[in-house]
Amino acid sequence: MSEETGQFLTLQEIVVAARANLAPGPWGYLVGGAETETTVRRNRHALDSIAFRPRVLRDVSTVSAKATFLGRPVRLPVLIAPIGGVESFVASGAAASARAAAQFGVPLMLSSVCQPGLEATAAAADSLRVFQLYVRGDDAWVDDWGHRAREHGYSAFCFTVDSASYSRRERDLVGRFIKPWRANAASGAGFQAALSWDQVKRFKDRHRLPVILKGIATPEDAEIAVRHGVEVVYVSNHGGRQLDHGLGSTAVLPEVLEAVGGRAEVWVDGGFMRGTDVVKAIALGARCVGLGRLACLGLAAAAVPGLVRALELLEEEITVCLRLLGVTSLAELTPAHVAAAPPVFEPSAFSAFPLLGEDLGPKS
Ligand SMILES: Cc1cc2nc3c(=O)[nH]c(=O)nc-3n(C[C@H](O)[C@H](O)[C@H](O)COP(=O)(O)O)c2cc1C
Repeated sequence: MSEETGQFLTLQEIVVAARANLAPGPWGYLVGGAETETTVRRNRHALDSIAFRPRVLRDVSTVSAKATFLGRPVRLPVLIAPIGGVESFVASGAAASARAAAQFGVPLMLSSVCQPGLEATAAAADSLRVFQLYVRGDDAWVDDWGHRAREHGYSAFCFTVDSASYSRRERDLVGRFIKPWRANAASGAGFQAALSWDQVKRFKDRHRLPVILKGIATPEDAEIAVRHGVEVVYVSNHGGRQLDHGLGSTAVLPEVLEAVGGRAEVWVDGGFMRGTDVVKAIALGARCVGLGRLACLGLAAAAVPGLVRALELLEEEITVCLRLLGVTSLAELTPAHVAAAPPVFEPSAFSAFPLLGEDLGPKS
């Protein structure tokens, strides 16, 4: 813990510091979602609709939250999710994400639409890393990214598949927030719209990299993904930033897990802000949880030490939760540790931090 960030005793304090540091444009881009932001709220609703069933008297004097990520040891079952334009939250952009990931010991999934890019981010820190692509070109263009990812130590390749169209982010539109990276990111968007299962198969046949499909939201597509031999089915609705009126990710998770039936890893993201949130997903059967906004908030609060501190606090929350559930490791968690229960707060992007009150609550 650095001296500067040791002052953050709760994740909520990191949220407050991030908000103080960001201008309204980047703040709206960070917290906002598509149109009515119903999907954003449903992500939280799904997590808030799960309660724990703790077991007691089970010697939990030693507890570990360690996990594995594609076979490699990591400190927590989480990854830093891909963030386009992360440089609008922290000057050194994805280099800061990579340094924090390496320092703390969790993997980074690098977005193809952020700075400083695939090669420089790999050079910035030796973090465990995977690469995420928005398809903006033909097969040769995609192959080039595949080769470069492999060459620069990315251990898997992710296609984000929930983005056939860029959505209408109303906070950005109303605030007239011009994203400097959008013009570049939008050129060639027709290739993403035309993306199909055939291209997934083509990539799998051609590249010796595990493939992750990020943005699977139904058991039907999870089944097709597994039939195409993908290594990871990543349940996500892009943090509610793409299709509005979707289901919460964690609500979809059990049926996807059932469809996959252990034939691939299942990861999930969407609304994860707390250690208890992470434990819920792992208890249901997910192998890894993506952190989107929470990671950005850490970076915006205090750059590399801010994200490291956010991860430390998350780890502390996870460890406390495991101990109170009567387990000593993530491997002991089962669906019997959770049960359905009605949420007690109105779900919103920040309903995980009720002490923030109205300021950051329902409005955000
Ligand atoms: C500011 C921002 C930028 C994002 N950019 C990308 C991106 O470039 N590629 C991608 O696959 N997902 C992107 N996402 C979605 C995240 O990877 C992740 O799926 C989502 O944020 C998870 O929800 P959460 O923010 O509630 O944790 C972005 C999310 C945010 C908040």
